[in-house]
Amino acid sequence: MAVGQMNEVVEVIAEGPLAERVRSLGEAISADYEGKVPVLVGVLSGSLPFLSDLSRAIEGDCEIEFLSLNRFGEGGRARISMDTEISLEGRDVLIVEDIVDTGLSLTFLRRLLDTRDLKSLRTVALLDKVPRRIVQVPIEYRGFEVGDEFLLGYGLDWEGRYRNLRSIWAVLDLSAFQADPGMLMECAF
Ligand code: IMP
Ligand code: MG
Repeated sequence: MAVGQMNEVVEVIAEGPLAERVRSLGEAISADYEGKVPVLVGVLSGSLPFLSDLSRAIEGDCEIEFLSLNRFGEGGRARISMDTEISLEGRDVLIVEDIVDTGLSLTFLRRLLDTRDLKSLRTVALLDKVPRRIVQVPIEYRGFEVGDEFLLGYGLDWEGRYRNLRSIWAVLDLSAFQADPGMLMECAF
């Protein structure tokens, strides 16, 4: 790998700290939901690795469901393109998100789930991109606060790629990366 490319993509959260943080989120959730059977609702596809690890860090029973959102147009309009298999009525629901960026998706989702007579609704987001927030939305459990760089790995993708990186990488030069998206292959896998 050319040395120059090292400056364009950089590992920002390594596997060790990632695993450690997921473990502590699991501990907090286990304590808060003791005696309950929460439904973890993963937002596809980015939440998959996080949900997988988080669910196994929870000591106690839980159910796992998924839904998929489609954002369209400006201003956070969205629709559910795949809904949960079970009814969430009367359940303690924990939304599992990879990253909260503008907050528009999560705001849409929380409003929608609020109409379904849940017993409780909370969110766990692995990453909170605080500087990019447009709408304030509650995030009860958060893994890491991050800056406004474009991130990849551990579920986060660029045009569907790189979700299976085991750690989180930041793209420092987005136009250089878009011109040569293979650059990450050489250093990240
Ligand atoms: P929001 O509605 O702007 O908060 O968007 C949240 C969604 O945008 C996340 O669930 C991700 O799918 C995507 N997203 C936001 N930031 C990044 C990033 O840095 N890398 C990859 N996907 C991102
Ligand atoms: Mg997402």
